[in-house]
Amino acid sequence: MTLITGFMGSPRKGGNTDMLLDALFVEAAAHGAETEGISLAGRDITPCIECGGCDETGVCVLNDGMTPLYEKIEASDVVVLASPIFFYNITASTQALVERSQACWVGKYRLKRGPLGGKMRKGVFLSLGATQGKLLFDGVLRVVRYFFDAIDATFEGALLYRGIEERGAILRHPTAIKEARTLGAFLAEGKDLSGVEGLFRP
Ligand SMILES: Cc1cc2nc3c(=O)[nH]c(=O)nc-3n(C[C@H](O)[C@H](O)[C@H](O)COP(=O)(O)O)c2cc1C
Repeated sequence: MTLITGFMGSPRKGGNTDMLLDALFVEAAAHGAETEGISLAGRDITPCIECGGCDETGVCVLNDGMTPLYEKIEASDVVVLASPIFFYNITASTQALVERSQACWVGKYRLKRGPLGGKMRKGVFLSLGATQGKLLFDGVLRVVRYFFDAIDATFEGALLYRGIEERGAILRHPTAIKEARTLGAFLAEGKDLSGVEGLFRP
């Protein structure tokens, strides 16, 4: 069974990002996947303190809300990172998760260990913002690419929506929820994602 873990980086529970991830999850579960959503906001995840503690082991020495998430990532077949745009960036709690994947990066590139959990996984990104900014997602797509690389996930694609502001606005977008559902179904069935309409392929 495909295990899909979704990291939800919006502080607004029941907000747009949450709804989009939920749509993906509902359809993924209907197609036989196991899903787990993990809310990052309010979770005690210290940003990387650059102590070098993982340099020899690839294991982070901090013990906080991130600690159990390493195992969650290892077990996952698919990691969904979901964050609204805050100041042209992912949210701070999402960035804390990304920074703490430094231990995984060390394991991969310095210690040359095999893939996390002995397998590669897929990575997909969900994001949205209020404005129509042409470059709205340019910066975060680069961040996400390096995050997925550190956790041995192939960056398969992203659903990105502009003009989404007040809570629930995503439900009024003409295609977003349908596209997230389709993505969920494709991920659950291990299908090639090129058939998912609206998916940005990096
Ligand atoms: C602190 C903060 C910063 C934001 N910065 C941006 C931004 O730079 N560009 C943008 O398009 N929207 C920005 N927004 C709007 C949110 O991305 C938008 O309201 C989004 O729908 C929130 O998603 P959520 O309901 O999942 O939290 C910002 C919102 C907040 C609260």
